Amino acid sequence: MVKVTVCGAAGGIGQPLSLLLKESPRITHLSLYDIVNTPGVAADLSHINTKSKVTGHVGNEQLKEAIEGSDVVVIPAGVPRKPGMTRDDLFKINAGIVRDLATAAAKYAPKAFMCIISNPVNSTVPIVAEVFKKHGVYDPRRIFGVTTLDIVRASTFVGELIGKDPKDVRCKIVGGHSGLTILPLLSQVPGSDTLSQEQIEKVTNRIQFGGDEVVKAKNGAGSATLSMAYAGARFALSIIEAAFFGKSIVECTYVQLDADKQGAQDTKRVIGNGIDYFSVPVELGPNGVESILPIGSLSAYEQSLFTKATAELKGNIAKGTNFVADSKL
Ligand code: NAD
Ligand code: LMR
Repeated sequence: MVKVTVCGAAGGIGQPLSLLLKESPRITHLSLYDIVNTPGVAADLSHINTKSKVTGHVGNEQLKEAIEGSDVVVIPAGVPRKPGMTRDDLFKINAGIVRDLATAAAKYAPKAFMCIISNPVNSTVPIVAEVFKKHGVYDPRRIFGVTTLDIVRASTFVGELIGKDPKDVRCKIVGGHSGLTILPLLSQVPGSDTLSQEQIEKVTNRIQFGGDEVVKAKNGAGSATLSMAYAGARFALSIIEAAFFGKSIVECTYVQLDADKQGAQDTKRVIGNGIDYFSVPVELGPNGVESILPIGSLSAYEQSLFTKATAELKGNIAKGTNFVADSKL
């Protein structure tokens, strides 16, 4: 039995994400929660002839039944960007939404694998961690910031450049999930040695600001939804395969480095001691994070990107942590 709850299931990401999850034979119960429209979305999806049961839950009074006993909770709830905004501009609204959903998860599904999509991810993941700590149920191996869209974009953009099928291009991306904190390690991608420094810098910038490309093209109608649904489903299904079906799967994801003490030490040797959350390559298994894998070697250019990312990331993390410290829970 695998119960997955999507919080924000009626939204631009939530609906296609739920559709992709409904396709999976691994899920037995797909629980859809939102503050609007989930009965309709659930009725619609429930007609698809895959075996999972679909239930719809709407509004705070139905949050407990939605989330109770979940094995995986995916959170794409909250507002998206409009042109001219940074992800950090979403903090004011989304921090409270994520805190309240995390509180329900800590109470009713404390062992769930938490997959956080809502922005700003650099801050919302520390918010979930702090809420779980306050409820005495924190396990850093089970809380993930979903940065898979950065990986998906990198596969596409780099694949186009080096003439490979994008699905065969795996690019490690570390750091955070906003602009300069997104650190693509292109030097480790086989075939990238054919790229000039100018090409590397251009494609790095495109990966870092891929979200802005979509926000601009949507022109006020939101940010990436379909590609995010694809990436979110990939990540959630990776967790399910690893946690419940014995597969060892590696994904880059934004975690608290305490999830693996030895891995944390090795990572901090590269990134410095002052950063506690970082997107890293992680081996997933029955407990979530089984181990944090090495970041690997960096080119001089990548090293310079690290330096630029540090201050912003530290500020984002502190903002999330302080928000919960200042909240009455
Ligand atoms: P959207 O506005 O289309 O959908 C958001 C949904 O959240 C809506 O249905 C809304 O009713 C719901 N919601 C609001 N408050 C809620 C609450 N308290 N409980 C449950 N549901 C609630 O937005 P979207 O385009 O789906 O984006 C959602 C979030 O995902 C945004 O914060 C966006 O920035 C983020 N995002 C992250 C990534 C990533 O790579 N991690 C990628 C794309 C978007
Ligand atoms: C993305 O990377 O597409 C998301 O984080 C949404 C955004 O605001 O850019």
